[in-house]
Amino acid sequence: MILVTGAAGFIGFHLCKRLVADGYEVVGIDNLNAYYDPSLKEARLAILAGFKGFTFHRLDMCDYEGLRAIVDRHRPARICHLAAQAGVRYSLTNPFAYQKSNNEGFLSVLEIARCCRVENFVYASSSSVYGGNAKLPFSESDRVDNPLSLYAATKRSNELTAHCYSRLYGLNCSGLRFFTVYGPWGRPDMALFLFTKAILEGRPIEVFNGGKMKRNFTYVDDIVDGILLTLSHPLPSEIYNIGNSRAEDLMDFIGEIETNLGTKAAIDFRPMQAGDVPATIADIDKLSRLGYAPKTNIDAGVKRFVQWYRDYYRV
Ligand SMILES: NC(=O)c1ccc[n+]([C@@H]2O[C@H](COP(=O)([O-])OP(=O)(O)OC[C@H]3O[C@@H](n4cnc5c(N)ncnc54)[C@H](O)[C@@H]3O)[C@@H](O)[C@H]2O)c1
Repeated sequence: MILVTGAAGFIGFHLCKRLVADGYEVVGIDNLNAYYDPSLKEARLAILAGFKGFTFHRLDMCDYEGLRAIVDRHRPARICHLAAQAGVRYSLTNPFAYQKSNNEGFLSVLEIARCCRVENFVYASSSSVYGGNAKLPFSESDRVDNPLSLYAATKRSNELTAHCYSRLYGLNCSGLRFFTVYGPWGRPDMALFLFTKAILEGRPIEVFNGGKMKRNFTYVDDIVDGILLTLSHPLPSEIYNIGNSRAEDLMDFIGEIETNLGTKAAIDFRPMQAGDVPATIADIDKLSRLGYAPKTNIDAGVKRFVQWYRDYYRV
């Protein structure tokens, strides 16, 4: 039995789907909050409900007693903790949402992992912890004491807290620094979704830093592969970058969207946004040593996203 928090979220949904398809029993938790359209979360859950091995509980992670009751009932051997308040830009205007879900909620799930002596606790961190790091590509051995957003600061705090629990209580913990995840059922606040929607509605897209941005756009199935690898390698206290093997220029990524939509985007170039960074590029050697090998390039990945978007929204 594997407990997945954030099961109705973008990555959580794909992870749960893969796990149940592979024959695992999964208990999913999510509070279905309204950070973005909850109907998208409900639609993801409706798919998961079709699998025999999937059980869902709507719950806020900060509800420690509620979590405890669920864990006492299902006795998960492993936890994958993905639920969080995501998004760098939103953290500029809604700091308390991050304090609540990413600090208090994280501690609540970590305490559960400790009390229930789970074999492995894998949790979502973020490439944003590299903040103002000027050295590229970002490596796990780089210093990460220069966060540029509250979101990044909460994710770094999660890594330190998990490390502390590993040292104090012998809990196996692996933190995954995700690099710009995209794919079908993706998040409405992220670039691929925003750009696709705007182009189809004939609106200009907002591109920051004059488009001079580089990202390791990572297809969600590759992310799921990496999560499964770390779930099956319990280790005392590890951190892994989990990204694509090559970095793309944002303008090339936009070109891929245009090709798939058969339309040119009208671009509204904007200055760099506070909290954002011009390049996030992953050194993935460490996870590769466990066997991680991302397979999906942006041609195939963007195509699958656009097909899903057109089907789902009937455009
Ligand atoms: N998608 C990316 O590119 C990316 C990059 C770096 C890190 N991450 C991290 O990966 C994880 C998953 O991200 P995602 O893209 O699937 O985001 P998402 O927002 O789609 O999923 C997160 C889910 O957690 C749930 N949630 C939030 N607060 C909760 C709470 N207090 N109690 C219960 N449920 C709660 C939300 O309802 C949502 O369904 C997050 O921790 C995020 O910070 C994602």
